[in-house]
Amino acid sequence: MKPALNPQQNEISIPAEANPMSGPRHVAIIMDGNGRWAQMRNRPRLFGHHAGARRVRQIVEACPPNGVNYLTIFAFSTENWKRTQVEVSGLMKLFQRYITKEARTLADAGVRVRFIGDRVRLNDKLVELMDSLESMTEKNDKVHLTIALNYGGRDEVARATKRLAQDVASGKLDPEIVDEETLPKYLDTYVLPDPDLVIRTSGEARISNFLLWQSAYSEYEFVETLWPDFTAEEFGALTSKYGNRDRRFGGVKV
Ligand code: FPP
Repeated sequence: MKPALNPQQNEISIPAEANPMSGPRHVAIIMDGNGRWAQMRNRPRLFGHHAGARRVRQIVEACPPNGVNYLTIFAFSTENWKRTQVEVSGLMKLFQRYITKEARTLADAGVRVRFIGDRVRLNDKLVELMDSLESMTEKNDKVHLTIALNYGGRDEVARATKRLAQDVASGKLDPEIVDEETLPKYLDTYVLPDPDLVIRTSGEARISNFLLWQSAYSEYEFVETLWPDFTAEEFGALTSKYGNRDRRFGGVKV
């Protein structure tokens, strides 16, 4: 089923789920290539980020028809602060604008929005908008959209470890019972299933500090398409391809 799609329209149309049982339930995306997309058009990098932001809606809409319940997207990494001040402040403004503009549409479409990452370095206005979008959509469950903003996998594990250590120090947690089920409860993603499929656009084959703990057994797809050109059709093709994978989680098929 093709989702009703029109990036110019200010409404999102999420069709009923047509769940291909073998498809990925949780897809995570490293949205790469905005800068190159803009440079190819002799435009500033921010032009590419704006085009990239418009793509997000189409991919959210493409989730239910492809049986995807969880979509996690990498919007800004803990390393992205190293970019020029113009690009960083332009991206921060873009996030504020995106939330302000898309909030009602996402809420009405049944999308539950969450943010992961460290909010401490983000400006107060942006954090306020993030909090309000999270509470506005908290009862929705058609698509769980998680936006990673000032997110880094190592940073997340470090922050989780700090909280875990504080619980041990205060006597709330017995260190003897700490195992691989314990740490995920302290991660930003504690309510989310692990991603089944991680997609990275733009031809780079790197994880770049994204969902390090959570993607231990994920399948990966690295595609050449630059993020602003990534279509719902390509997303659908990658989720179908995933259905043919043989995931053994380190075991063997009996
Ligand atoms: C990587 O491309 C992209 C980013 C660092 C920003 C991602 C942001 C968006 C897609 C837009 C906003 C998202 C939301 C949720 C509103 P790059 O700049 O590294 O591209 P390059 O590798 O070609 O330089």
